Amino acid sequence: MSLRLVTGPGYATWEELEAAASGCTACGLADHRTQVVFGVGRRDPQLMLIGEGPGAAEDRRGEPFVGRAGQLLTALLADIALRRDDVYIANVVKCRPPGNRDPAPEEIAACRPFLDAQVAFCAPRVIVTLGNVATRAVLGTREGITKVRGRSFPFPDDPAVTVIPTLHPAAVLRNGGGALAQVRADFVRIKRALAANAGGGPAPAGR
Ligand code: URA
Repeated sequence: MSLRLVTGPGYATWEELEAAASGCTACGLADHRTQVVFGVGRRDPQLMLIGEGPGAAEDRRGEPFVGRAGQLLTALLADIALRRDDVYIANVVKCRPPGNRDPAPEEIAACRPFLDAQVAFCAPRVIVTLGNVATRAVLGTREGITKVRGRSFPFPDDPAVTVIPTLHPAAVLRNGGGALAQVRADFVRIKRALAANAGGGPAPAGR
């Protein structure tokens, strides 16, 4: 399977891509960041998870999902026998929106080439979108997460890749019980999709 680089300049290597992201000043978020939060994990994963944007803890550490929401995400992965370094984790925007507001459409658009390149380089079999912002960006839908979670979708740029939208861990922390049950059910779906997409065996070399 080959994923095309969808928009923006092409990057020949991860190093080139990360260097471009680290120095990016394409939108106003650059003025507020401590550092760019590029992405973390295995660069040839079967599973890629995409969040919205860094919060305060991530902005300080330079790594996605290291605050309370990140701890929940790590626990949800552990429930399906995955560690953080088995997967790749990135955000739609790489710089913290002030006050943790939603990223604006022009900020999402400015960061999009980096996300597209990360997806293309990772070439995952399954993409999990965490919450509204990531789901809308990846699927190009206007539907809210509560409408689309519980289902799987073909990735628009490569229908062989399965997209599974789920609730954002921060929303689960806010909403508790029922939301936790839903996100747990979604992670069981993710596990099944990985098994189905992998044909039950390890990924071929080079993925
Ligand atoms: N929320 C996100 O969407 N991403 C992070 O990295 C942390 C919190």
